Amino acid sequence: MVALARTQVVLPRSTDAEFESDVLAGLSATPKRLYAKYFYDGVGSQLFERITEVPEYYPTRTEMQILRDNAADIAKLIPSGSALVEFGAGSSKKARIVLRAAPALAAYVPVDICGEMVEQEAIELRPAFPALKVLPVTADVCFPFELPEEAKSAPARVGFFPGSTIGNFEPHEAAAFLRNAAQILGPGSTIVIGADLIKPVEILNAAYNDKAGVTARFNLNLLTRINRELRGTFKLDTFEHHAFFNRERNRVEMHLASLKRQKVKVAGECFDFRAGETIHTENSYKYSIESLGALARGVGWMPAGVWTDPDKYFSIQAFTLSDEPVARLAE
Ligand code: AVI
Repeated sequence: MVALARTQVVLPRSTDAEFESDVLAGLSATPKRLYAKYFYDGVGSQLFERITEVPEYYPTRTEMQILRDNAADIAKLIPSGSALVEFGAGSSKKARIVLRAAPALAAYVPVDICGEMVEQEAIELRPAFPALKVLPVTADVCFPFELPEEAKSAPARVGFFPGSTIGNFEPHEAAAFLRNAAQILGPGSTIVIGADLIKPVEILNAAYNDKAGVTARFNLNLLTRINRELRGTFKLDTFEHHAFFNRERNRVEMHLASLKRQKVKVAGECFDFRAGETIHTENSYKYSIESLGALARGVGWMPAGVWTDPDKYFSIQAFTLSDEPVARLAE
């Protein structure tokens, strides 16, 4: 595991063999595509951190502000003695706001595929919250995993999924994530999710085309990674970052466009590019409060609270499960 930059990104990660087969399959497909989860090698994770600081990229700072402004209200959804389970807890920066506002929490369970990162975060958190049990779990949050005993036996569990990572899932994957979270947290649970909202196209396009070019470097770094890890021959100055809001699908799409007709080799296989042909590298879905509510309701989560910023750029949305057994809800 190379990436120790503390991103909040939890797209499922893969082995080297999967990386190779996914890249070869993606470049053989029409249109060509690569999975966004492969952005996050060491350099990619650091570039993502830098994206969160560019002036045009509003989601991270807006979400932090919503959490700060509404922490007391959000904490009302957290019953005394319960366990807060953070899905994809790269950095606990956002969780700390909730933890400070909910001193009656018994346990905090940061879950991430990168064990080193959650263990390190736990070491740093414990002195700041001496009354809290910090119980890190190494797991891929898109699949079933076991909670620690103390979290399972707590009177309630509250999920936390900030960062708008739900937007990087296809809608059916977002539904599957919520179904899995319901199974893990159990009947009567609550989940608090950060989701980016649909907004004027100029603001969305600017956020993914920052003037300093950090998002472009983040996108192009995927080709550098393929060159390094899969013996790729991509010439970076012959590809260009393209990002735009697709109004029909309510998503920002990122692509890498070939500036000329060319051939590229990867892992011994040859791929042809037409001039202008693109590799689709990421979708970042934007929701309305209603559309995320509908998606969540479809898998048994009932809307329980919404907090936004004054411009309505970003939302924190809470959902609860009924006390019915979860298996019956998911049928
Ligand atoms: C991690 N994720 C929520 C980011 C997003 O906005 O979809 C990834 C990103 N891609 C380009 N800029 C940021």
